[in-house]
Amino acid sequence: MQFEPIGVFDSGIGGLGVLTQCLGALPDESFVYLADEKNMPYGQKSEAEIRNAALAAADFLAKKGCKAIVVACNTATEVAIDDIRRKYPALITVGLEPAVRPCCRELGRGYAVALVTEATARSEKFKNLVSVCDGRVKVAPQNDLARLVEMHKADLELLRKPVFDVLRPYPDAESVILGCSHYTYLRGLVREFYGERIKIYDGAEGAAARLNYLLALADKKAPKGQKGKVEYFSSLNFA
Ligand code: DGL
Repeated sequence: MQFEPIGVFDSGIGGLGVLTQCLGALPDESFVYLADEKNMPYGQKSEAEIRNAALAAADFLAKKGCKAIVVACNTATEVAIDDIRRKYPALITVGLEPAVRPCCRELGRGYAVALVTEATARSEKFKNLVSVCDGRVKVAPQNDLARLVEMHKADLELLRKPVFDVLRPYPDAESVILGCSHYTYLRGLVREFYGERIKIYDGAEGAAARLNYLLALADKKAPKGQKGKVEYFSSLNFA
């Protein structure tokens, strides 16, 4: 018997880290992953454009019969998750938020740098999230970094200079919040810049835990021992 899958989308490879966490937390489930490469980069688009792209991605996953949608993208979550929830109230919807809260809880006397897309930095939700941290989170909006990660995913070493340039104004940061799912691929370079002392946060684990919790609450988890499968789609292949 086939069980309803869980849909996961991002503008590209960024959400694969979230998918990996979800697979670890929910090994019996099947997943449909959509890389919305046709609309990448979300972070440089207007709110209306991001909303349209995110709703189209949700439509695709709903048509695939998904019982839940994971918005594995901070930008799309900040801008469009409420619209997705309004359109699909019966689906479990989980978003990805920059891990500002957990970072602030564990922050010592120093400050954190939050790397986010420009669209995330502009959003009211994100501004509210940061405002509770008493100025201890410095926001560094990035114009082109997600696109560079997508472009150089096979050789991230090429991004050493751009990443070091981004971090140079914050030499004594205590923590770094990777507030775009694409930036999670830059963990190694961030650690190389700061050394082992740096604490790095992203929201992938939290999103997987939330999905697990909501599925259990709604009694919608696949039975134990199912052989889950993962299907991968790119919007570049759509007409
Ligand atoms: N991966 C997305 C995020 O988490 C944004 C990447 C893009 O700009 O398309 O914010």
